[in-house]
Amino acid sequence: MGMTRLIELKRCADEGGTFVSVGGRELAVFRSGDDVTVIDNSCPHAGGNLSGGDMTDGVVECPWHNWRFDLRTGVCEHAANVRVARYTAAVRDGWVFAELPDGRSSPG
Ligand code: FES
Repeated sequence: MGMTRLIELKRCADEGGTFVSVGGRELAVFRSGDDVTVIDNSCPHAGGNLSGGDMTDGVVECPWHNWRFDLRTGVCEHAANVRVARYTAAVRDGWVFAELPDGRSSPG
């Protein structure tokens, strides 16, 4: 499985989320300096826009009903059996890449 190029790091909000749509998949990229986490943008509760949520200490809070998700694991703080999909991510040459289940390798 290859890494898919998502967005230039400098276009990602620092200490917050950025919405990215690639290959029909809607993702949220959370950046803290040079570290990035990539998750599905849709909240597992009711589809809230997680990229628009506040990020504090590695936790994002959904802007719709305030469920909180640990970005290190994707697990919801309110219900341990609920989690948002999280993808292996990396920064290379100023671009954010993620390993998506149906992704194709992107040069870079
Ligand atoms: S849609 Fe995210 S908490 Fe309800």
